[in-house]
Amino acid sequence: MKYSPFLTLAAAGAAFAQSTVPAYGQCGGQGHTGSSVCVSGHHCEKNNDWYSQCVPGSVSSAPTTIKISTSKAPVSSPTTAITKPPVTASKTTSTSKVATTTAAASGSFPTTSGTKFVIDGKPGYYAGTNSYWIGFLTNNSDIDLVMQHLASSGLKILRVWGFNDVTTTPTDGTVYFQSFANGEATINTGANGLQRLDYVVKSAEAHGIKLIINFVNNWTDYGGMAAYFSYANIKTNAQWYNSTKAQTQYQEYIKAVVTRYINSPAIFAWELANEPRCTGCDLSTLKTWVINTSKYIKSIDAKHMVTTGEEGFGPIAGDDGSYPYQLSAGGSNFTANCEVPTIDFCTYHLYPESWSVTPTLEWGTQWIKAHAKACSAVGKPCLLEEFGASNNCTIESSWQATALTAAGTGADLFWQYGDTLSYGKTSQDGNTAYYGDELYDCLVTKHIKAIDSL
Ligand SMILES: *[C@@H]1O[C@H](CO)[C@@H](O)[C@H](O)[C@H]1NC(C)=O
Ligand SMILES: *[C@@H]1O[C@H](CO)[C@@H](O)[C@H](O)[C@H]1NC(C)=O
Ligand SMILES: *[C@@H]1O[C@H](CO)[C@@H](O)[C@H](O)[C@H]1NC(C)=O
Ligand SMILES: *[C@@H]1O[C@H](CO)[C@@H](O)[C@H](O)[C@H]1NC(C)=O
Ligand SMILES: *[C@@H]1O[C@H](CO)[C@@H](O)[C@H](O)[C@H]1NC(C)=O
Ligand SMILES: *[C@@H]1O[C@H](CO)[C@@H](O)[C@H](O)[C@H]1NC(C)=O
Repeated sequence: MKYSPFLTLAAAGAAFAQSTVPAYGQCGGQGHTGSSVCVSGHHCEKNNDWYSQCVPGSVSSAPTTIKISTSKAPVSSPTTAITKPPVTASKTTSTSKVATTTAAASGSFPTTSGTKFVIDGKPGYYAGTNSYWIGFLTNNSDIDLVMQHLASSGLKILRVWGFNDVTTTPTDGTVYFQSFANGEATINTGANGLQRLDYVVKSAEAHGIKLIINFVNNWTDYGGMAAYFSYANIKTNAQWYNSTKAQTQYQEYIKAVVTRYINSPAIFAWELANEPRCTGCDLSTLKTWVINTSKYIKSIDAKHMVTTGEEGFGPIAGDDGSYPYQLSAGGSNFTANCEVPTIDFCTYHLYPESWSVTPTLEWGTQWIKAHAKACSAVGKPCLLEEFGASNNCTIESSWQATALTAAGTGADLFWQYGDTLSYGKTSQDGNTAYYGDELYDCLVTKHIKAIDSL
């Protein structure tokens, strides 16, 4: 998701309700009971009906509505939120129980068998979810709680952000993983850096959860490719893919993360980026990058799987001529990327509403079937890695049923997981199912039952 966002500050409680909302905090939206006043230098901007956020820039008197693109362009969502959870490093000294790694550390590494995934030695269809924010939490108990809830629900795969790039180094303890401040690239391995991701991996090991970890964002949330621009003396994502300086540092970052968890059976797969696109580029730009990067990862870690993180754009059989099936949508060819030998399985996302394609349910069903067929032809599993239809259980569960029965799909991960943590509820970005709520029952409990009864 482009706006993949955010932990709600409303939930942080009364302390926030009376005060100003910090940068990137929630300042409005349905059900928001906290303050709508942003810290100085920021203004409250509406992302969607459920979420308004304090973003840098001149103060506007009221939350403004972001224009929804009326073109057929596959905008990932009508938002531009850049988000930071309201957590600080001062909380990293949590005294919560440390997860134990010993039991699961001996487990086998996830792999594929034809178009199926194999987890803990068992080939089958798997379900999971996304929580981009979990590596940015500073309370270990919160991380353990999420892992415990996932495990008891029967969800096996969790996709998290493995990047958090900044261009100004935070001095307040805010979690970040890599800084490009002052023209220098620095990987943060400190207590407010990759040590937070360490705990996520450790807790995943203890709970038998398998993680997908990516290395950069196409979008500017948590930095993204744009965080490299000034450092690499470039101006666009298109240049990022083909910049020696950007690619060298990106690979340094990959090495720093991969080598930390190289022996962990909790890593499901490494992912090149979140939703990489190179619109307007020659197809070779993205494809060369996919080949180069996946080869590089395999050269340092031959045991874990690698995937792209792409949205699945490009022409495939079953194509109805709509925008997402065009090469121009992402400057990419889904099938061609899927065929790359160092790519183990093929990802695609599904947001008909954001992509302005209709009817939502039927269009999505066809998108799932078409990708499943393409993956079958290549002989690798498809992963329906993100999907959402504004929390509509009818639509989303129907897609899950299609994915489950369309041979070629190995797993699905709904966007996104929600829970109630030590500071309150995680954010409702318009596509969030909270552990234990009605939508969760629809997307998780029922789906897991269907999978188990196969
Ligand atoms: C993501 O990539 C597409 C294609 O290059 C581009 O249009 C879009 O602006 C990118 N997002 C950001 C935030 O750069
Ligand atoms: C891709 O890899 C080749 C071979 O290692 C290298 O020559 C080229 O510079 C790389 N291209 C990019 C854009 O990283
Ligand atoms: C990438 O950079 C190389 C070296 O500067 C150049 O030869 C090549 O044309 C570029 N490719 C694209 C697609 O821009
Ligand atoms: C996309 O990739 C597939 C698989 O390699 C290939 O058959 C097809 O020709 C490609 N399409 C274009 C337009 O490059
Ligand atoms: C969910 O989608 C279905 C199918 O499009 C529609 O009939 C139904 O009204 C939607 N439900 C809600 C709550 O919007
Ligand atoms: C961490 O979370 C636990 C419960 O999940 C809570 O009891 C504890 O107070 C939290 N610690 C801090 C420092 O917020």
